[in-house]
Parts: sequence; C-alpha cells; structure tokens
Amino acid sequence: MHDHSKDAPDTVELTHEFIKRFGKSSDADAISAWFSPGRVNLIGEYTDFTGGLVFPCAIDRGTTLIVRRTHDNSFGFASTNDAYTDRLTRERTSDRSMREWIRYPTGVINQFDMRGFDIDGVDLLFSGNIPSGAGLSSSASIGVVTAIALNALFQCGLETMDLVKLCQKAENDFVGTQCGIMDQFAVAMGQEDHALYLDCGSLDYRTVPMQLGPLSVVIADTRQVRENSESAYNDRVAECEQALALLGEHVDIKNLAQATPNMLTQHATVFDQHPVVARRVTHVVNENERVRAAVSALENSDFKQFGRLMDQSHASLRDLFEVSSVPLDHMVRISREQPGVLGARLTGAGFGGCTISLVPTEAVAAFEHNVTRDYFDATSLEPAFYTFRPAAGARRLV
Ligand code: GLA
Repeated sequence: MHDHSKDAPDTVELTHEFIKRFGKSSDADAISAWFSPGRVNLIGEYTDFTGGLVFPCAIDRGTTLIVRRTHDNSFGFASTNDAYTDRLTRERTSDRSMREWIRYPTGVINQFDMRGFDIDGVDLLFSGNIPSGAGLSSSASIGVVTAIALNALFQCGLETMDLVKLCQKAENDFVGTQCGIMDQFAVAMGQEDHALYLDCGSLDYRTVPMQLGPLSVVIADTRQVRENSESAYNDRVAECEQALALLGEHVDIKNLAQATPNMLTQHATVFDQHPVVARRVTHVVNENERVRAAVSALENSDFKQFGRLMDQSHASLRDLFEVSSVPLDHMVRISREQPGVLGARLTGAGFGGCTISLVPTEAVAAFEHNVTRDYFDATSLEPAFYTFRPAAGARRLV
C-alpha cells in the first residue's frame, strides 16, 4: 500500500499549532485531521461546464485541515499559509462579500447551513502545499476538505458526490466563479496512480491507469499568478451558453458537449454574426474529441499521439478560447524545444498558472535546467517545477 503519510504534513505538529491558536479542549479526541489533494488536468480544458469530457488526476500535494467543534455557533479560521485569521458568528457565515481566503471554507459552511444542517461551530486550521493561483485547484482542495470534515463531524450523511456538488455550488454562489465540476470531483474522487475520465454531463466516470512508460508529466509553474480572472472565466461560460442557444435552434442538443464537429460545419452560418462565440464553440467541440482520443492513446501506450493532442489543446486554448498568456505561451514553446519532449499545454483555467509537459523521465533534470534558463531570458520570471504522483482523493487522516 502507498504510504499516505508522505502526502500530508505532520498532523502532530499541526495539532500543536491548532492548540496554540485555538486553545486546549477538555476532550483531546475531539480534534481530527483531514486531507484533500489538489489536481492536475491532463486534457479536457474548459469543457466541464458544457457537460463535456475531462481527464484530470489528483496529485500528492494538498490541504490538511485540523478541526474541532465549538458548539457555540462561532467559527474560527486560521492557516499556516496566510496571516489572515478571523472568527465569525453563525450569521456572518452567509456574508458573501468577504474577500479573504476564508471565503472558500465559509462558502462550504454556508451550503451545509442552507441544506438545513445544524452546523453549530468549528475551529479550523488549514495547512497546504499547493501553490495558490497556479491552476492546481488549491481552492477546490480547501472546499472539499472542509466538506468531508463537516459531513462527518455533524453526521450529515451526504455521499461523496453530494459533497462534490455542494462544493461546486459554494464556489459558484460564494466565490462567484461559475466553474464546472471537474476540480471538486478530481480532488474528492482521485485514485492512486490513476487519472479520472469523467463525463461532466452524466457524471459517469472511469479510472485509467497512468502508465507513461519512460515518460513523466512535469508541471511547470509560470509564476504568473492568476488574479481577478473570475470575470474572464465567467465571460467564457456565458459565451458557451450563447453558443448552445444559437446552435440549439437547429439541432437537438441539451448541452454544448453534445454538439459534433459535423453539426458545426453544417450550421456554421448561425455564428456568422458571432465570431467570438464561433471560436469558443469550436474549441469545446474539438477539445471533447481530443479527450476521447487522448484516453485511447494512453490506454494504447501511444505517447506520441498523446503529446500531439496536448499540443493541439494548447493551440486551441490560445487561439480559439483565448485563455493563455504570454508567459504560458513562452513556457509551452520552450518546453517543446527540449529534447524528447512529446507535448506541452497550459493546464487549468489559464491566464497564468501552470503548464504540463510530457518529458522523458531520464531527461527531467536537464529539462528543468534548460527551461528555467530560457524561460527566465524570455520573461524575467523564475519558474518552479513539480513532479507528482496521481494520488487518492480526500480522506480522514486521524
Ligand atoms: C477551473 C474551473 C474548472 C474548469 C477549468 C478549466 O479550474 O474550476 O471547473 O472549468 O478551470 O478547464
């Protein structure tokens, strides 16, 4: 069995930290520890909210939560990653105007509350090692770890998929991003050494072994932090809704992911007055095809094909969906120039954050060395690299 203790920080030390911040309790057993990973998306970008296909996996980095009930309707928030701390009354947990990091767990508390669960207070200490704003789902990780802990501590009896949906709703309502379900699903449902092939329309999924032979997926962080990208993200969601409305007048589809390349060709004229919408829908339809092809390629150990699909995905996100950035494009270009690299693309929501590249394992050190040099020359930014193992989903630690 894989030793999960390597994935998560030392809970003994964090429990001491918790007591330092929130005080001792009479019943030491009342403190528990939980963990949720982050995720990296291999392919299938900006398809989830259209009911499309995605292919992410959970990673062996994530968020640990130490938690204890307060029973007095007060909610204490602290993090080893951020100096901001706060204590909220129960009433304040429905205040959607808060801007600090605590809005992620607060949004989740609020969702439980709105479903009628009597959440009468918790103290929460978070500690994470996912870089924030890097496209590796640090926010979904915080949300899901909060949800699994509340579900157990207050005996709510919700299934994991209910928690996934609850966390997506928290992000939609509280944080204001009209995100799809991919991130919350991936961090909750991750499986060691596997990627998750998910149909976001039906929520059917299967796990696919991540067997890359002599290759590794390397995550490269552009260190261009994604900021205030919520409105650009929500614009894309709205444009996809418009595409569905336009196309839906001519073909019988319930979501945009049901549109085929053939339908687009046959009804190209409906987008004549809407060139931006035309670009968005072309990306979504082709990206879905690429996910299908990428899953087969991986299952057939056709890594060249997998790499080509990564390259095509990036070009489409850059030119048609327009969510790349200058640093991301430099990172992808420079990564591809390295010997033996089979493909590279931005991962996650774009506008900064990380890329992934398919690199010969024996060349990873040289890859990181050369990319650091050339990327710095091009952007004056110091990149960071993360290797990872596909990891298990959110769980209780102690
Ligand atoms: C963010 C969102 C996801 C998904 C990706 C893009 O990570 O939270 O729902 O849309 O962007 O694929």
